[in-house]
Amino acid sequence: MENPTPPKGPMQAETAPDAAKSAQGAANAAKKALLLEALSYIGHFKGKIVVIKYGGAAQVHEAVKRSFANDVVLLQSLGMLPVIVHGGGPEVSRTMEAMGQEAVFVDGLRVTTAEGLNVTEMVLSGLVNKDIVALVNQQGGRGVGISGKDGPTVLARRLQRQDGKDLGLVGEIEQVDPSLITLLLERGFIPVISPIGMGDDGTTYNINADSAAARIAAALKAEKMIFMTDVDGVLQDGTLVSALTAAEALHLIDQGVISGGMVPKVEAMLHCLGHGVGTATIINGGEHHAIIAELFTDTGVGTQITP
Ligand SMILES: Nc1ncnc2c1ncn2[C@@H]1O[C@H](COP(=O)(O)OP(=O)(O)OP(=O)(O)O)[C@@H](O)[C@H]1O
Ligand SMILES: [Mg+2]
Repeated sequence: MENPTPPKGPMQAETAPDAAKSAQGAANAAKKALLLEALSYIGHFKGKIVVIKYGGAAQVHEAVKRSFANDVVLLQSLGMLPVIVHGGGPEVSRTMEAMGQEAVFVDGLRVTTAEGLNVTEMVLSGLVNKDIVALVNQQGGRGVGISGKDGPTVLARRLQRQDGKDLGLVGEIEQVDPSLITLLLERGFIPVISPIGMGDDGTTYNINADSAAARIAAALKAEKMIFMTDVDGVLQDGTLVSALTAAEALHLIDQGVISGGMVPKVEAMLHCLGHGVGTATIINGGEHHAIIAELFTDTGVGTQITP
């Protein structure tokens, strides 16, 4: 008969193998808890549409871009219906500079001349769109690139701002027809959409990608809208604000704490909130697998806006 292990008294020191075993046990328990947490979210999002705004500012490092595409394909393999709407501001600015055209912004919104619009459309619907489609396809997905003109999906008119500032050929969305996107989703494709819209007279409009994403998410009645950018979320004095009410968000815009490209993003989140999109969050697309951390954990990451 084997000797029974003597009971461990409170004062008895743990031997090195015992300590290693309990550390391993704790790690295993943490892994199981994380998996269970993730599985519950996977169940929740199954069959649901998740719209991801992929900001131009986040499309920098090749490895992070690949991990973004990998995450999107993973979401689809888990039964979700991901839709990508992309920006591409920095690439548009670079190309304009290379062509001797100057990029001008008013309150984070690009001013678009007729000349600039050609470059914008070429870069967004051509270069950036196809780059993302290729990334998705390389990761085993079936990406299809469309612009808001296809379908037509995004009907727009010339933006009339309350402050009277004219942004040229910048459009505001009149209507989104989600039927082409839905058709692609039903057939197992991942739609990748550039923020270009069309007027009923055939005029092409450049549309802020955050607004386009929010309107598309609302038209699709998406469960979740994720804005991926180059910062952790809304920052105040350099610190991440993880939750904001609509009133607080508007106050931070008034105070100028939220400025530049963050203004249309927060406004787009507010649009989501008021138009039946489950939740909307801003996350840092520069972090590897940020989408996974946001979707499948209790705490999530980034900034969420609540009513
Ligand atoms: N309070 C704030 N918190 C965080 N970022 C802010 C804030 N106010 C202004 N910003 C700016 O907003 C930027 C993000 O918006 P930006 O339009 O540059 O990126 P994007 O929307 O991801 O890209 P794109 O416009 O090409 O789609 C940040 O990099 C930051 O400079
Ligand atoms: Mg932007």
